[in-house]
Amino acid sequence: MSQHSAPPTPEGGPAVGHAAASRDVVSHRGLADVVAASTAISDIDGRAGLLFYRGYDIHDLSGAVSFEECAHLLHRGDLPDREQLTNYRAELAEGRRLGATTEAVLTTGVATQPPMEALRTLVSALSADDPDTGSNAPDANARKAARLVAQMPTLVAVYHARRTGSTVPDVDPGLDIAGNFLLQITGRRPDPAAVAAFDECLVLHADHTMNASTFAARVCAATLSDMHSAVTAAMGALKGPLHGGANEQVMTMLADIDERVDDESARQRIVDEHVRAKLDTDQKIMGFGHRVYRTEDPRATHLRRMSRRLAQLTGEPKWYEMSAHLEQTVFQVKALRPNVDFYAASVYHYLGIPTDLFTPVFAISRMSGWTAHVIEQHADNRLIRPDSEYIGQPPRRVKPLSER
Ligand code: COA
Repeated sequence: MSQHSAPPTPEGGPAVGHAAASRDVVSHRGLADVVAASTAISDIDGRAGLLFYRGYDIHDLSGAVSFEECAHLLHRGDLPDREQLTNYRAELAEGRRLGATTEAVLTTGVATQPPMEALRTLVSALSADDPDTGSNAPDANARKAARLVAQMPTLVAVYHARRTGSTVPDVDPGLDIAGNFLLQITGRRPDPAAVAAFDECLVLHADHTMNASTFAARVCAATLSDMHSAVTAAMGALKGPLHGGANEQVMTMLADIDERVDDESARQRIVDEHVRAKLDTDQKIMGFGHRVYRTEDPRATHLRRMSRRLAQLTGEPKWYEMSAHLEQTVFQVKALRPNVDFYAASVYHYLGIPTDLFTPVFAISRMSGWTAHVIEQHADNRLIRPDSEYIGQPPRRVKPLSER
């Protein structure tokens, strides 16, 4: 909200009716509690710790529907019946191919860039070969949304292969997005329990109301820019450590703590020391806290269970056990609870996903939510253009260079 509501007087003094005196300025730092959009896609009850996708409780969806069903729900408004799911799967399978332009970009230095920087460029490049690139019409947007959801895991797998000098295994038509991604990243046919766990992760991360990256996508789409531009903006926002980048930082923290353990009996003490040292010096612990939830993040409930289960299955309990102890200590010291990124870190690690691909994996899932929000924004658009509170110099005159 500008204080420059009236021009400066000829003498250069404060303007008559200066806004500071005449207007109430209500500033919501970080837009906290501001309702920035109306949406039918997802809803959060932060006090009760509930999350809904199009009216379905995440506790009901998690483990009960595949990521493909979930993406259909977000894009097309409802869970698919058998025939719709078959058709949607076929559309995804057809749409997963990368175009010639993206393939060409992959041969450049992009494969030597860190993952989220490379993928931000690659997602943008996808528009060059998209047959619907020039249109924001509902049918074109629906097709683009399906293609982007299908292409995102392919992009991550191909990028990973290029940077490691390996080849990407062919997709297995018998596997869905979750299974094929694990196959292409690890080079091994994944265990069904791992596929089920990863599929559940994709469902849990798919949408989350006006999170920073979705808001970025909607702001971009609301200028009537196209879907690829909007999701490129979202990729940039997701990359930050306060948003999607947190899951990677959690794993780095767990690995750092683990390196300091030379005697098993000291593990918990080292975890405690790490937490207290951070909190005593006002540093944040990644994977904790949330703008909206005042109680447990419902996604963390499922990810904690999955981490515990994968710890048993892999026979490597230390990552889950350290996470559980760290959670306890953070709660004791600062009453903060884990968010979606905390247990996602150990889950992805157990699934054999390299740590620096954790945020790209978040993007694979969230692509379904971003694209659903672009569809919704374009369907009932108004430019998103908030105001700002001016905190700078009062109105003043420009002096000639010789007098400054
Ligand atoms: N570790 C330590 N303290 C934390 C914290 C964390 N992870 N998250 C919040 N806090 C503290 C802040 O230091 C602040 O304390 P103060 O009031 O004593 O100064 C208070 O809680 C409010 O935090 P703030 O950063 O203002 O809240 P926010 O709503 O702006 O931010 C997050 C929400 C998610 C950005 C924040 O909790 C955070 O940075 N978490 C770590 C990053 C992360 O996990 N991001 C993924 C989110 S899904």
